[in-house]
Amino acid sequence: PIPVWAIVLLVLLVLLVLVAAAGVSFYFWLRWKLAQQVEVKAGVKSVQLSCRTTENLDGDVRVEWRDGWNRKVHVYQNGSDQPDEQSQFYRTRTKMDGNLLKNKNLSLTLKRPTYGDGGIYSCRVYNRDGHVLMKKDIRLKVKGQ
Ligand SMILES: *[C@@H]1O[C@H](CO)[C@@H](O)[C@H](O)[C@H]1NC(C)=O
Ligand SMILES: *[C@@H]1O[C@H](CO)[C@@H](O)[C@H](O)[C@H]1NC(C)=O
Repeated sequence: PIPVWAIVLLVLLVLLVLVAAAGVSFYFWLRWKLAQQVEVKAGVKSVQLSCRTTENLDGDVRVEWRDGWNRKVHVYQNGSDQPDEQSQFYRTRTKMDGNLLKNKNLSLTLKRPTYGDGGIYSCRVYNRDGHVLMKKDIRLKVKGQ
């Protein structure tokens, strides 16, 4: 027969997995709920995901836009765009302000958004030590024509 302690351990393990799954689901649900929503029609020329900061940005910051799959949508560091770090999926389709540190305009322009581009996008600013200075989520909804 199976010893009692083994059954108790198994039950505890199952409970732990359930609690962890609920926690992860809640985190994503909350992010989804709290994100600002932007809605466009498929086929428009471009969509702007706005992100502004009041932080004083010196030359040593890194700005990153990531999508819901954690792919790098656009990376800016050392005073210029870093297209080599960008996910292939977004190549040539993104644009950021040419003088974004001075203008504190971290908005992203995504050209020719398609239905598949819908989802969460996050704008993150890191300092030179890799600490997050700010983070903002935007939920993009692309409607069919
Ligand atoms: C940024 O510049 C520093 C040195 O100034 C260099 O070590 C680093 O690799 C550069 N990063 C990028 C992404 O170009
Ligand atoms: C911010 O930058 C974007 C480029 O991605 C540009 O289209 C937009 O006009 C800028 N906004 C302001 C307020 O300068």
